[in-house]
Order: sequence, then C-alpha cells, then structure tokens
Amino acid sequence: MNRRILVTSALPYINGPIHLGHLLEHVQTDIWVRFQKLRGHECLYVCADDTHGTGTMLLAEQAGVAAEDLIEGVRREHVRDLTGFGIEYDNYYSTHSEENRTLSELIFERLRERGCIFTRNVAQLYDPERGLFLADRFVKGDCPRCGAADQYGDNCDVCGATYDATELGRPRSLVSGVEPEIRQSEHYFFDLPQFGDMLKGWTRSGAVQPEVANKLAEWLDEGLKPWDISRDAPYFGFLIPGTQDKYFYVWMDAPVGYMASFKNLADTRDDLEFDAFWAAGADTELHHFIGKDIINFHTLFWPAMLEAAGLRKPTRVHTHGFLTVEGAKMSKSKGTFILASTYLEHLNPECLRYYFATKLNGTVDDYDFNSDDFVQRVNADLVGKVVNIASRCAGFITRNADGELALELADEALWRRLVEASESIAERYEAGQVSRAVREITALADLANQYIAEREPWKLVKQEGTEAEVQAVCSLGLNLFRILAIYLTPILPGLSKAVSTFLNVGPLRWSDIDQPLLGGRINPYQALLTRVEKKQVDRLVEASKESPADDKDSGEGDQAHITIDEFAKVQLKVARIAEAEAVPEADKLLRLQLDLGDGQRQVMAGIKSAYDPASLIDRLVVVVANLAPRKMRFGTSEGMILAAGPGGKDIFLLSPDAGATPGMDVK
Ligand code: MSP
Ligand code: ZN
Repeated sequence: MNRRILVTSALPYINGPIHLGHLLEHVQTDIWVRFQKLRGHECLYVCADDTHGTGTMLLAEQAGVAAEDLIEGVRREHVRDLTGFGIEYDNYYSTHSEENRTLSELIFERLRERGCIFTRNVAQLYDPERGLFLADRFVKGDCPRCGAADQYGDNCDVCGATYDATELGRPRSLVSGVEPEIRQSEHYFFDLPQFGDMLKGWTRSGAVQPEVANKLAEWLDEGLKPWDISRDAPYFGFLIPGTQDKYFYVWMDAPVGYMASFKNLADTRDDLEFDAFWAAGADTELHHFIGKDIINFHTLFWPAMLEAAGLRKPTRVHTHGFLTVEGAKMSKSKGTFILASTYLEHLNPECLRYYFATKLNGTVDDYDFNSDDFVQRVNADLVGKVVNIASRCAGFITRNADGELALELADEALWRRLVEASESIAERYEAGQVSRAVREITALADLANQYIAEREPWKLVKQEGTEAEVQAVCSLGLNLFRILAIYLTPILPGLSKAVSTFLNVGPLRWSDIDQPLLGGRINPYQALLTRVEKKQVDRLVEASKESPADDKDSGEGDQAHITIDEFAKVQLKVARIAEAEAVPEADKLLRLQLDLGDGQRQVMAGIKSAYDPASLIDRLVVVVANLAPRKMRFGTSEGMILAAGPGGKDIFLLSPDAGATPGMDVK
C-alpha cells in the first residue's frame, strides 16, 4: 500500500545556532523520512524557523537591525548547517510568513466561533523602564520556596519548585535591571479543558509512545487548565484579529508553522492539495518529531487546537530524549556545546549520522555523545566492518577480473540470508528503533567478513588457475556489501551515493535488494569513508570552547561567560561626580553629572537608597564610558557607574585611589 506521509521536526528557535542537540532530532527525522522514501512511499518533510517572541525583538534591537532581517539571516545559517548534515527538507520556511499569519488567524477565528476562546485579566511582572511585560526567562529573583538567589521566573534550579514569576523575592528585570512591578492586562485563553476527554482517547490511541502516554495521563487526570495564547505589545509576532495591542503567543503560531511551511510548498506543486493533508478525516499521515521538553505543546495544546478548528490530528508524535555530551549537559566552558558549523569544520557529517543511528531506540531516554565511543563505533563498525568488505574485494575484481563481476552467486544461501533480513530491518526503521536496525546490519556484515576471511582471496590469487574463484568470492562480497549499503541508505545517504557510483549502478533502491548484480562492470575503488582520528574530535572540542553559541539549552552558560574580545570592548574610565540630585519621581534613581576629563555627561544611577546626593559631590567613581545612551523615563543616561552589593542601603560605589584623575582608563 502506498502511503502519503507528512513529517516535521520541531522548529528551531532563531535565537541561536544549530547545535548537536538539534541535529539529533533532525538526523532522526531525516533517517525516518529517507527510509519511507526508499520504501516507495510519498513522504514530505517540512520544517521552519520559529521566529516570534519578545526575545527576537530584543535581539534585533541589540543588533540594531530590523527583526525581519535578523530572522532571515539566521534562517539561512540554520538551513546551511542542517543541510550540511544531509538533512533533506522539502521545505524549510519561517513562522514569520503570510501563510502562517493567515492560518493562525483562521484557526483562532474557528476556535472563537466554537466558543473555545475567552478573555481574563492576568497579573504579570512588568518592566517599567522598558515598558514591557516580562516573560519568565527575562526575570530573576529569589525562589519563593527555598530562597535561592538568581532564579528564573518559572522554576528554581536549586530546589525544583515551580511558581509564578510574581512570587519571586527581590525580582529584577534582565532586560533593564530594574525591579519589575506587577501589572494587570487582558489575555486571551484557549479553553483546553473542553478537550480533556478527546485527549484521553487520542493519547491512548497509539499516537504517542507508551511512556509519553503515561506522563500525559498524569496531567490529564490532574485536570487541564485553560491556555494563555496572547501576549501584550510590544511583541514580535502576529496581531490577534480585532485587537490593537495583543499578539499571538509564539507557541500558538509555532505549530501552525508546520501547516504554513506545507502550504508554501503545496502552492508550488500541482500534486499537493492542502486539504489532503490537513482536513479532518484526511487519509494521509502526519508525523511530528520532537524533544521531550515540548510534549505538552504537541500532544495536548496542538491536537486540541486542530480538533477545535475542524482539522486533522497528528498520526503520531515521536518524542526523543535529550543529548548530553561526555555524560553532562552541553557546556561552553568544557567545549561540549558543539555547534553544527564547528563540527563540519572538523569531521565528516556522515560519521555523526551513523553515531546517532547507533543510539536511536525510539524511547524518550537521553543519549550521550561520548568522543571515545564515537571514534570506536565509526572506526570499528562502520569502516572496519562494513566499508572494509568493499575495500577488501574491489581490488581483486579490478585487477584480476578486468572490473567484471561474476555471472553467478558463489554462495546463494549466504546472499539470501542478507536479503531475508530486509523485513525485520524495515520494521526496526519504521518503529524508530534505528539502533537495532544498525545492530542487525553489522551482524550481517560480520557474516560477510567471515565468508571472505574463510575464502582468503588474497591467498587464492597467488595460486595458479584460481581466477574464476577469486572473482566469484569477491563478487559475492560486493553483492553482500551492496545489500548492506541499501540497508544503510537512510542513515548514510552520502555513502550510498558513493557506493552507487563505485558499483556503477543507479541510486540504491530497497526494491533491488533481491536482484543481485551479476556480470556488470564496477569502477575502481576509491575510499568510501575514512577512519576518524581521536585528534579530530579533540580539536572539535577545543574549537567549541570558543564558539559564541547562545541558546536556551546552554542555560546560564551564555550569560556566565563572555569572550575576552567582548570584555575588551567595555571601556572603563575614572570619572568625578560633578553634580548629584535625586530624581523625585523615581524611587531609586539619582541624576549625576560626571566629569570624564573631556566634558560632562549625564548618568542615571539606581543608588538613591544608599547615598545622599550631597555626599557624592567630587567623589571619584568608575564608569562604563562607551555604553550606548539609553532613554529613560526621566532623561537619557550616557553611561553606567560601577557599584557592588545586594541593594537597599548596601550599595558600595567602586572608588579609584586618590591619585586617579577623571578620564583615566581603568585596567
Ligand atoms: N521553537 C520550539 C519548537 C517549536 S515546534 C512548533 C523549540 N525550539 S528549540 O530550538 O529550543 O528546540 C528545537 C528542538 O530541538 C526541540 O524538539 C528540542 O527538544 C530539541 N533539542 C534542543 N536541545 C536538545 C538537546 N540537547 N538534545 C536533544 N534535543 C534537543 O523548542
Ligand atoms: Zn528553590
């Protein structure tokens, strides 16, 4: 039966480069897609960048570019990195597209018509200086449960508590540094609880892995809550129809981005009908590949939204675990935050595809990238067992048989054993148990090697009258190798292509497995894949220590470290406080006039609680002299003075020794 299958990988955020964790997902998806295509099914693979949110707006501001330009630049980099690993998308689009706007609005309207949307006031932390409601990752404070300092607005790294950002002690905005205030605003909600029963059925229908279904059952039994799908302006995203200052929350339009990417593709192709893949009751398949951190969005919110909008639900959501590197969360200082682009500078992408393939088991367990294991697997199994068959046999055919393969199979029973593994290997691929497929394939490679070792063609050639035998043995070896190469095609598309050139045949096809190559002429052997040196991996780790990555997965890493170059950009100078006065309307601010030796400038400093303005006159301080001027509510601030301390009365200005003079560089 010919299946029509639409497949997606989760849409990478535009706030950072593609790293090994993303690749785990896209390689897994690509293997599955290539497998389906190889088996003769129609399989389409779409993806896109996830572009919306406050973060994008702030990033663009920092970079001084329009958000549209920023995201298009990042999208190109993402596509370059991902396709560098042989990931073959039918379309890689953007959530910031007209298709996505139209579809998001359409779905929202349908939800509203069905009575699934309501509004309610929500109290949230608000940054009064930037005029911005703060998402959880833009605010830090003390954990309301254990008191640990420096915790984000959603949960505590120290004790694991989850809470509302408004509960944080001593909160501060990571955008401006000021203390946020609590403000109310109207939000739009999707009435998820209406879909509790539907979801209970759907999550038990084989649409998710059993361990995911169990997790979801816990959530479903606790009862679902309405889902907040709006955010206040300013926001980079789509305006909610009928409002002036409310935007769709990024997670509302992100999964719609799957549809939008498909729509964008279908509009260029006569053979693709949008409805054939998205209408309720469509007889095509829809598969999402995601990481375990985004299960709720894909297996609760998304199917409920689709149902409410009268659209089809996913056939299956394939969830994977997280990638760790050398046994720990990826970390920049250890060099284990490995970017796709850095990897490509040092190693062959097919080696990573193969390595991931040896791990993928269809569960939500985490996977580890271990460099010794990586080198071992690639060299011992892939090069040593599989590729070795070709390199051992090819020379004899080329030198001793004029490149011609024998007309018969020397050991048909052995050949048949490899052919007959085809359905079992296919089942493994279908189920996402790629590691088991690889194990079966390498076990078959062992059989082939054993056969060659027993027949010893390198000894045979030295005897008289053995030409036909040598040719027969090596021809069978190459036929066995060809079957293995077909089995590995979803994992190693590059190798597969090289093998088809070497064997002088068209692209390898699964349906050709039981058609042996007899009597054809092969091309001289060229190394299909070379061994990996541990040194190369060491260099990759070394280079990764410097890569300027920035992604939510790095956690604190991206904020905990700056490069020496970044630090060198900070110009610190000695300044004399020439004038100081309180800003009456602001609780914390003093307005200072600083003398930097080359004229005066105004700096707003949040030190009112600790210093009486009069006591500051003529005092020497250290100032960041090249900070971009910032417009604040009570005037522009043209620098920042340095102080230490937890706040309140305990703020201590950094003071240069008496000999310093205004304008001196601080080293
Ligand atoms: N933008 C959202 C997804 C929206 S889908 C409608 C997002 N982006 S992400 O860039 O943070 O992650 C994209 C995918 O990569 C997710 O499935 C996530 O689980 C996966 N991974 C990110 N880091 C990972 C690892 N370290 N290991 C494995 N997968 C990881 O979430
Ligand atoms: Zn805590």
